[in-house]
Amino acid sequence: MSANLPEVRILPNAAAALPLLLDEVRALLRQPTPLLGFATGGTFTAFLQALAVELQQGRIAADALRATHLDEYLGFAPDRAGGMVHELGTNCPALLAMLARGTFFPVPHDGTPASLRAHDERLQRAGGVQLQLLGIGRNGHLAFNEPGTPFDRGFHVTTLAATTREDARARFAPQEPPTQAVTSGIATILQARRLVLCAFGAAKAPAVRAMLRGGIDPACPASVVRRHGSALVLLDREAARELDGSVAAG
Ligand code: GLP
Repeated sequence: MSANLPEVRILPNAAAALPLLLDEVRALLRQPTPLLGFATGGTFTAFLQALAVELQQGRIAADALRATHLDEYLGFAPDRAGGMVHELGTNCPALLAMLARGTFFPVPHDGTPASLRAHDERLQRAGGVQLQLLGIGRNGHLAFNEPGTPFDRGFHVTTLAATTREDARARFAPQEPPTQAVTSGIATILQARRLVLCAFGAAKAPAVRAMLRGGIDPACPASVVRRHGSALVLLDREAARELDGSVAAG
């Protein structure tokens, strides 16, 4: 795999990413097999809500769209609050209709090898993920691939890092945040035709610096985006504030 510089755009604010993300979805829908891999987390809430409006008002036609997502807390069925599918459906109800129609492929929350294999095969039958949206954890994680996860892994069950659980604490309070999740692997993510990673806010600045300026290394899982031939990184000024000038090609 060759090292490619991702396209990095530093935007005045997070809201400026919305039209760019919606344009990515429109471009996806011009593909023969438009399978979109959603990411969850606060980074994408405004986008999901904007997409919901576009779908509802028919400015983006959902008929051909197929959808999936990156990861799910272990044991969290699609209707369970706190889970990723629940979050996606709450912000973009069209995804729940797609789930009912069988055109939204949820990550299997049981995490068994057989269901993970079947999920992967289903994505392949649907033509593979064409556009994969990505956030980044404060510790540089991608999906729930925590630092140290080898780059060659596919879907797997993982134990969440302490910072990841801390960041999820408010989401689950007064319960404790989960300790395990089912996640697409780095190898899975790299198979997508296009990657669009978003990071907003000063808390992400060290992870963004490690992603773009450090080594391409499992110590910062997100650094692997530099090995993808078609990756776009959208940052607001705060997330970009530890970058100086050029971005390492790796
Ligand atoms: C979770 C998800 C990641 C996401 C991260 C960042 O850990 N598994 O895919 O990138 O949260 O979340 P936020 O956008 O809320 O900062």
